[in-house]
Amino acid sequence: MKRYEEIMEIALNRLIFFPSHEIYGGKAGFYDFGNVGARIKRKIENYWREFFVRKHNFYELEGAIVTPEIVLKASGHVEEFTDPAVACKKCGKKYRADKLVEEKEKSYVFDGNKEKLEEKIKELGIKCKACKGELGEVFFINLMFPTQIGYDGDKAYLRPETAQNIFTSFSRVFKVEKKLPIAIAQIGRSFRNEISPRNVLVRLREMTQMEIEYFFEEGKDEVEGWEKVKDKKFRIKLQGEKEARWLSGEEFLKYFDNKILAFFLVKEWEFYANLGLKEDKMWFRFLEDNETPHYSKANVDMEVETSFGVIEIAGNAYRTDYDLKRHAEFSKKNIEVNIEGRKFIPHVVELSMGVDRLMFCLLEHSFVKNEKGWSYFSISPLIAPYEVSVYPLMKKDGLKEKAKEVEEMLKERFDVYYRESGSIGKRYARGDEIAIPYAITIDYQSLEDDTVTLRYRDDGKQERIAIKDLVKKIEENIRKGKTKLE
Ligand code: GLY
Repeated sequence: MKRYEEIMEIALNRLIFFPSHEIYGGKAGFYDFGNVGARIKRKIENYWREFFVRKHNFYELEGAIVTPEIVLKASGHVEEFTDPAVACKKCGKKYRADKLVEEKEKSYVFDGNKEKLEEKIKELGIKCKACKGELGEVFFINLMFPTQIGYDGDKAYLRPETAQNIFTSFSRVFKVEKKLPIAIAQIGRSFRNEISPRNVLVRLREMTQMEIEYFFEEGKDEVEGWEKVKDKKFRIKLQGEKEARWLSGEEFLKYFDNKILAFFLVKEWEFYANLGLKEDKMWFRFLEDNETPHYSKANVDMEVETSFGVIEIAGNAYRTDYDLKRHAEFSKKNIEVNIEGRKFIPHVVELSMGVDRLMFCLLEHSFVKNEKGWSYFSISPLIAPYEVSVYPLMKKDGLKEKAKEVEEMLKERFDVYYRESGSIGKRYARGDEIAIPYAITIDYQSLEDDTVTLRYRDDGKQERIAIKDLVKKIEENIRKGKTKLE
């Protein structure tokens, strides 16, 4: 069994995630997050909000999902947001054409040339996976979900990225704040009608993005906090390079001279490492020119190695003034800003991160299994579904009542997992499996001296701690992302 298959099994059995509308057979590319997964997801989002938004005084937005067609014509998505596809001449089944080649050749980047892709499919002898039939010509499928607004039906789409709400709200925000730079962040759902969605939380049709658009005056790429981060390092594969190298934020400027982009790369690296991704299994990749999206002058993705293959979990783009200019043109509104008499359309650097894929990669990297088959996820306590569990050793002799008191106290601050049935060993194993970093057991000694046993997920070691110190100690350690109390 591959690692990701084991994780999928635990995900189903421990209510992390499972196919949406499963009793009807489900539809590929849609997942529901269960009790455990929804908590992890919410905590990833909260930590992102704290790490990127609150700490830097960025603005937030919660935009509408249904987006009128004109907005997405302006952004280029109606014309350009397509994937190459092929259909079987015999049974009609459709495939993502470039992915068929990628599966055969391990790595393949589609450069937009349809004829070259058709030749490649022929050359590699790729046939329909379902019936071995011959595949037809490459054609392009738009990835957006169409819908309509109102009874008569103004054409609209479910948004393919959260970014467009941010661009169309910029004028309003600037009118109120009258300053640059301004960074606007948004966490929300986006939709992509993928041709071949995959069976894990990768390439979904409905997903959650965490995005920031940083608006600034061209050439003035100042960013508060740069001095503190410029010497911090991350790994990156530069254009034309296969191996990742360590570069600091400052060193990155030799390859692309924009401090805002470099700042985001340093912060992203730190964010991912803090949550538990392994630094030797992640790297940025500076995209080649022919891979760079239509709106961008430079793109740097974050890629993560997993047993499922390499997964892209973030994209950073220098979107220039592309989007705002296009929205000015299509809306016929003047969205220039006026700063001390200088009139211009701001430039934008974007940070775009996926939540679902990140959760999958975190589970992969943190999955630990010993020879007895006992397993856990060593994710940071910052995003554990429950920070702490509480178990009475027995249900009798006043232990349960004491445990309930401790649970009530801890619930004021933490998500608490309380279980009273089954052997204590089984309860520990179950708690470990859903990544709870601290387990508290109320035993006979607790009744005498108001102490409890505190057991750690990551090494199973135990120590005694006074009940009155629990909240403060656990809280301090969670903030620092520590799995053992200091
Ligand atoms: N906003 C960039 C993306 O969704 O890919």
